[in-house]
Amino acid sequence: MTEIPHHDIIRHLGHRRTVVGQAPGRVNLIGEHTDYSGGFVLPTVIPQTTAVAVAANAGVASRAWSASMPHDAQQARFVVGEETRSDGWVDYVQGASAVLRAAGHDVGGFDAVIRSEVPLGSGLSSSASLVVATLRALRDLFALSIDDAVLAGLARRVETDFIGVPIGVMDPIACAIGTANHALFLDTRDLSWQLVRIPSTAEIAVINSGISHSHATGGYRLRREECDAATRALGVHALRELTDADLRALDVLPDVLQKRARHIITENGRVLAAVEALRKRDIVRLGALMDASHESLRDQYDVSIPEIDRMVAIARAQRGVLGARITGGGFGGSIVVLATAGQAGKAADAVAQAARDELGLRPQVLVPPRK
Ligand code: GLA
Repeated sequence: MTEIPHHDIIRHLGHRRTVVGQAPGRVNLIGEHTDYSGGFVLPTVIPQTTAVAVAANAGVASRAWSASMPHDAQQARFVVGEETRSDGWVDYVQGASAVLRAAGHDVGGFDAVIRSEVPLGSGLSSSASLVVATLRALRDLFALSIDDAVLAGLARRVETDFIGVPIGVMDPIACAIGTANHALFLDTRDLSWQLVRIPSTAEIAVINSGISHSHATGGYRLRREECDAATRALGVHALRELTDADLRALDVLPDVLQKRARHIITENGRVLAAVEALRKRDIVRLGALMDASHESLRDQYDVSIPEIDRMVAIARAQRGVLGARITGGGFGGSIVVLATAGQAGKAADAVAQAARDELGLRPQVLVPPRK
């Protein structure tokens, strides 16, 4: 849990009644870029969380402070009931009240203090964790009756409707419902989910490359458009409807769309195989599937970058490592590594060291947590 220092709460919220909402970041184990084609995903939560402290404010203007932003950008104002997008981090906070109000909930003015341990632009859902934590804080402050599944849906609307970023459903659901030591097997077509235990023989490492990405622009949007184009050309409702048996039918598509569709179809198959491997406690198989996922994201979906490929290769060369891949939206961000229990920390440190020395990056080991 992220602690917001008491003096920060007193400085910004005074002695008003304060409630704190928390939500973790997430790391996707496998099932990447499938959630906007109705496919399967398999994320879990990371120990790093975002904390949002809120107190009611009877005035017109609401204020928010974020200790996780550069000093000159730490403060922002907004008006509950007249939320307007500002293209800054405060949109995640005012977007939460806007979406709650649009859904008929009674939300008044409030001030907020934010602190996050989830690095921005790292592919670990810093934004969904901020939105879910804000919604949880407002739920408590205004005694709203909303369960976490509904809250996840509202969180998604903050990003898609208020902010206008074309994210899929995985992140808000993973941050709102994900559970430590379990993989969240989510079917993004009907939103059914199950928690699958991660065997105690396995350990996960997550290393942020420090190369940050933005989903608002460029590659992510383009991949979604390419999937839409492939969907239309193949005459299906969503790429999720296709399986490995349909791979040959992709010949009718232009080369690029063939590659994109091939990734989605094979990745969905890998998620199902990964769930089966987890259930059988076959962590060697799970590692191999993660490796195959990386190759597909690199060669078919073209969302990796050379630095990340190198970090993945270094990870795979470490003792006890069973598989490694890029995780999240891509074009930078983090890698996720599967190792046998007890080996993840050393492997992660070795990857970070090499990323610093060889690639000149400023990596950060997030899992297992470092002191
Ligand atoms: C981002 C999006 C998710 C998902 C991943 C890729 O994290 O927010 O919805 O599409 O990229 O798997």
